[in-house]
Amino acid sequence: MIKKEIRHLINIEELSVKEINDLIKVANDIINNPNKYKDKCNNKILATLFFEPSTRTRLSFESAMLRLGGNVLGFSEASSSSVSKGESLADTIKVVGGYADIIAMRHPKEGSSLVACMNSTIPIINAGDGGHNHPTQTLTDLLTIQREKKRLDNLTIGLCGDLKFGRTVHSLITAMARYKNIKFILISPKELELPEYVKKEVLEKNNIEYVETNNIEEYMSELDILYMTRVQKERFFNEADYIRLKDYYILDTNKLKLAKKDLCIMHPLPRVNEISPDVDNDERAKYFLQAKYGVYIRMALILKLLEVN
Ligand code: NCD
Repeated sequence: MIKKEIRHLINIEELSVKEINDLIKVANDIINNPNKYKDKCNNKILATLFFEPSTRTRLSFESAMLRLGGNVLGFSEASSSSVSKGESLADTIKVVGGYADIIAMRHPKEGSSLVACMNSTIPIINAGDGGHNHPTQTLTDLLTIQREKKRLDNLTIGLCGDLKFGRTVHSLITAMARYKNIKFILISPKELELPEYVKKEVLEKNNIEYVETNNIEEYMSELDILYMTRVQKERFFNEADYIRLKDYYILDTNKLKLAKKDLCIMHPLPRVNEISPDVDNDERAKYFLQAKYGVYIRMALILKLLEVN
């Protein structure tokens, strides 16, 4: 049963632009004044329920709650939970509601977080549901863009790699489509193009300018942001297809020769081969900083959903 007052975060669209901008403001304040926030969640517990692998998302959620003075519990793989005994997601969620104050959940099935919130008495944060959405990665990305570019409008954004299965891409496009004068360059092989539903329901519906290409260098000189992504091995039905496509793009210093001096290179990580390590020394590479920002924006989100001031 959904309790009226509880606020969840399943899809980035559930947050208004004002709410997103307010979360960014709080995250920036946390970065500048961490001590102000260190006891805000004393006696609060975050449960991290991860039915799918994660490094950054789970650890940054845990770090966020610990830095707010709260506590964490949870599991990092389905095999260590009672799901392996056949328990339903609904039952797991009902039980954890008695142990924690807020849940961050990752699950391989699209729509699983929606099922979770329908059975939850405490806020649920979608930390990734299959190839669908990943709203807190998007909040991380928006904080990074705002801090590095000093704006969230008037941007040409290149998204490169697995645009089909990459949930971070779907959520980021949905969020950025609400800002002014955004243009997307969608760079992928034909087989990994952005799904039709995102093109129709987000880009076309909102009259957002976009082009599709399979050539990473074609629009390089126009980009303000280049968002690289990993080919999502775990969502392929056929290993031969994965092997054929996995190294389709490898960003290296040579390919960056045409890029703007203030390009912001992002990646939700983990990286496999799609960015050559020599790019890490380029000052335009922001992906490790981006991972760090994930903690602050998640702190801001936890405060908001728990209604802590
Ligand atoms: C992403 C994810 O899980 O979708 N990782 C993350 O949360 N930072 C990207 C990916 O796994 O490729």
